[in-house]
Amino acid sequence: EGTNDSDDKPTLSVVTEAGFMPFTYLDKGEVVGFDIDLLAAIMQEAGYDYELDNVGWDAMLLSVEDGEADLAIAGITVDEDRKQEYDFTAPYFESTHKVVFREGEDITSGEDIKELNVGVQSGTTGAAAVEKILGKNHENISKYDSNTLALMSLQSGDVDTVVTDNVVAEEYVANNPDANVEMIADPDTFESEFYGIMFPKGSEIQEDINEALQTVIDNGTYAEIYQEWFGV
Ligand code: ARG
Repeated sequence: EGTNDSDDKPTLSVVTEAGFMPFTYLDKGEVVGFDIDLLAAIMQEAGYDYELDNVGWDAMLLSVEDGEADLAIAGITVDEDRKQEYDFTAPYFESTHKVVFREGEDITSGEDIKELNVGVQSGTTGAAAVEKILGKNHENISKYDSNTLALMSLQSGDVDTVVTDNVVAEEYVANNPDANVEMIADPDTFESEFYGIMFPKGSEIQEDINEALQTVIDNGTYAEIYQEWFGV
């Protein structure tokens, strides 16, 4: 690990999966997004330099589990299973799931996906939510390596619906007016959850980062970044 010239803090290795617009995505080859701006603000506050790598979702989780990466940010939900393997900051964003589907499908609730072919990103809370409805490893569930691939399969007709994080669903529908897709929310079916920054278990930097997150929230920087991305 390299060192910073100005002090003795290590340069942190940060991993993400940049297929989750507007949280983390590629714009002209550059990783950008709400999470990426939040990360920059936190790192500045905490006084760490960092290198950011866009690796796949699975690679991201593995490299944090191994301790190869110092932290990950990618719209990652804090849940009980993951808390066994990783440590997390306090929550920084509330989320739930939405069902995205091609116009014409008769979907008014989460339960309506039961008879359909459903695409999800493998290893996500969206995949777990769908398995709760259809059954674990149900043959009508198609699991993709990325959320981007799941949404492409919806457009190509390989699946009828995709269940993904609400803000990502909203962004996708708004940005693809020609895709003829719509979406529904269903708070009775899809629970609320929270994103956190993920560390290897026992990470020594997590306290610094968590404190910096709290400061960024308290001093209005978080609200500024939120305003830039979500306009409210
Ligand atoms: N919030 C969901 C989860 O943690 C989905 C995250 C997907 N993130 C991504 N970068 N593809 O399971």
